[in-house]
Amino acid sequence: MNIGIDKIGFYTPHLYVDMNKLAVARDIEPEKFTVGIGQEKMAIPPITQDPVTLAANAALGILNEADKEKIDFVIFGTESGIDNSKSAGVYVHNLLGLNPHARTVEMKQACYGATAGIQLAKGHIALNPESKVLVIGSDIARYGLNTAGESTQGAGAVAMVISANPRIMVLEEHSAYFTNDIMDFWRPIYSDKAFVDGKFSNEQYIYFFSKVWEQYKEKSGLELKDFEAICYHLPYTKMGLKALRTILDEGTEEDNERLVANYQVSTQYNRSVGNIYTGSLYLSLLSLLELNEGLEAGSRVGLYSYGSGAVGEFFTGILQSDYREHLHINDHKHLFDSRMEVTVPEYEKLFEETLPVDGSTLELDITKDTAAICLSGVEDNKRLYVRK
Ligand code: HMG
Repeated sequence: MNIGIDKIGFYTPHLYVDMNKLAVARDIEPEKFTVGIGQEKMAIPPITQDPVTLAANAALGILNEADKEKIDFVIFGTESGIDNSKSAGVYVHNLLGLNPHARTVEMKQACYGATAGIQLAKGHIALNPESKVLVIGSDIARYGLNTAGESTQGAGAVAMVISANPRIMVLEEHSAYFTNDIMDFWRPIYSDKAFVDGKFSNEQYIYFFSKVWEQYKEKSGLELKDFEAICYHLPYTKMGLKALRTILDEGTEEDNERLVANYQVSTQYNRSVGNIYTGSLYLSLLSLLELNEGLEAGSRVGLYSYGSGAVGEFFTGILQSDYREHLHINDHKHLFDSRMEVTVPEYEKLFEETLPVDGSTLELDITKDTAAICLSGVEDNKRLYVRK
């Protein structure tokens, strides 16, 4: 049975900061951020957006009534969840008006959560071919003002419908994965900012890639030449390129040109958003599919997922005929075009704005937030959401 991605949607907050201006404010050469790190804009979430609203906004634009009826499993990948007990997916299930006869869970393994969700969805569909699964990766990446990780923050969500006979991409049979207990990046429960050993995390990302790439080739018998493109988890856009370069000597000049050109296309959306953790790989896939008009049906796309701590996985998909007709290219163009720039001091103020943790009530002004679904306040230690 063919199982894979039937629909894919994306949401990022309506505010961003320009990386050139952030660099100047930090007394850093702008090229370090725009070339060395490879980021142009960084999405800034207003206090009226959290991982729940980002996820719900990402899914809202892609689901029709039939999907809402057929979805019987919601898997919410996140590492910036809002509750240590209740799944963020349950709020989203309600905000989207999904069929109550559904399972809903939250999946955590750093940036790998949504990939775990996709693999679980694949098994569910194999057993229940008529079902559809909503898999979401939604996060706000926070390292702190004036930290080395600051230039690799971001916010956003990707929502995917996984089904039998998918219209965008069939996921192939083989997959290679690798786990090792390392401390490259982590976030203790008491902290709303991540801790990171930056250089070590870069090295491990590449080491895990080598492990799963070699195992994938052994399992599948495929080689570099068999790939039209490879998409990477992108904590920043230079990172995937470093990993891609480690395997280019396995291909011809033609293979290299094709893979590097497609890599550049696959990073365009991420360059303008920043790291969205669980959704980053799928934002890269979306960038490739929506911005490369010449990518033919039947093409094989490789996907490298990495979640610090750490778990890595390499798997592949085949693009389906007329897949472009099932993308939401204009909606995403509009989303990017209608964003508003904030100054560095405005970003710093937004960064420091946090919700009460002492049970007090807060009512938020949602009129300035252009999103359809917003966080409107907190009362009795409960977050309140509205769908405008
Ligand atoms: P840093 O120490 O500020 O930067 O931290 P750097 O000194 O390593 O410089 C970065 C690059 O800019 C270098 O290029 C410099 O040469 C270049 P490279 O050698 O790497 O190719 N550079 C310049 N280029 C042009 N013009 C200039 C210039 N100056 C310097 N003037 C770091 C960078 C990424 C480590 C930091 O931002 C950080 O710690 N970020 C967070 C961690 C991270 O993103 N790690 C990535 C792998 S782990 C992962 O992907 C998982 C993650 O998503 C979490 C999860 O799984 O949940 C993070």
